[in-house]
Amino acid sequence: MSDAHTTEGRPSPKGLVLAGGKGSRLRPFTYTGAKQLVPVANKPVLFYALEQLVAAGVTDIGVIVGSTAAQVQEAAGDGAAFGARITYLHQPEPLGIAHAIIVARDFLGDSPFVMVLGDNFLRGGLTSLVDRFRRGQPDAQVHLLRVAHPESLGVAVVDAAGRLVRLVEKPQEFISDLGVIGVYCFTAAVHEVVAHQQPSARGELEITDAIQGLVDRGLRVDALPIEDYWIDTGKMSDMLEANRIVLETLQPQIAGNVDTASTISGRVVVEAGAQVVHSTIEGPAIIGAGTLVERSYIGPFTSIAHACQLSDAEIAGSIVLERTVIDGVPGRIEGSLIGRDVTLRGAARRPRAYRLVLGDHSEAQLP
Ligand code: DAU
Repeated sequence: MSDAHTTEGRPSPKGLVLAGGKGSRLRPFTYTGAKQLVPVANKPVLFYALEQLVAAGVTDIGVIVGSTAAQVQEAAGDGAAFGARITYLHQPEPLGIAHAIIVARDFLGDSPFVMVLGDNFLRGGLTSLVDRFRRGQPDAQVHLLRVAHPESLGVAVVDAAGRLVRLVEKPQEFISDLGVIGVYCFTAAVHEVVAHQQPSARGELEITDAIQGLVDRGLRVDALPIEDYWIDTGKMSDMLEANRIVLETLQPQIAGNVDTASTISGRVVVEAGAQVVHSTIEGPAIIGAGTLVERSYIGPFTSIAHACQLSDAEIAGSIVLERTVIDGVPGRIEGSLIGRDVTLRGAARRPRAYRLVLGDHSEAQLP
């Protein structure tokens, strides 16, 4: 792909996906692994970025990996499953998003590239953004969204004509409500900037400083307002909402077994090897491969991962990760995030006390 050219004469952009960073614990899932592998509608959020790049015609993709490299590589493989060719690029320390561009220097060569943060999720995909970059041929392109909490993001100030004036990483004081989402298009001009960049107060080479460097050099950085649904799943607070949004777009498919005593309605995916016995599933919902659902009710906006077991359970609007058992729990579980290998059982005999083993930072609401 590296020699492919667009009709405008520029080389076709490569992809750069960031799946490194700190393997820090993610709340509320007690999960020490790669945050880019947290599932949305039973699919790691990273996979959406890879699929969306390929859909936008970007197939030569470098994936930045850090301490969780083994998990990421095992999950995404050589990229063939996505129609891509993945080159893994090891970043020894998470020294910043702009630092990842330095790590990728040889892989990128002088190609333009589309950089995506591996824990960002954009519902509508990347095609229109990448097409616009191909056609418009700016030196760089960033994507801005009006947000309620700009202090947790890179923030852009634009002038009346929509031109980018200033970028600040997580400003303490309000300067604008335009958040910079984690999708960026660059030409090779960025390499010269990042090579001379200094770490910020938090010790990282900030991507916002890199973009500011391009602006300061008088290069053309287009700022595209977007109105799509976007979240940074690394923040986790919006996981249920992201799940809801993606489940609404599911193509219903019953690949597993559903017995005649069960009722399925709405958008429902029952993955291969899953069994639904004497149960009701009201979509949108997804039941993962090899999961058993018996004498249970699964309500709208629920994702049950693979290899779970739900018996005599009622659950709606929730995410359940793999290998979890929910058995005979009285009442309905709603709006809940339940991690991997969790066991939730109703007490069969008295005393019917709550007996809980909840990990750090857990949150439970008991009737
Ligand atoms: O989500 C959008 C925001 O992402 C932007 O508005 C900010 O300007 C940008 O700095 C970034 O902020 P975050 O604080 O959310 O970045 P985070 O450290 O979570 O890193 C984003 C992704 O990049 C994450 O999947 C981990 C990966 N990463 C991060 C760093 C710092 C790397 O692969 N290597 C790194 O060195």
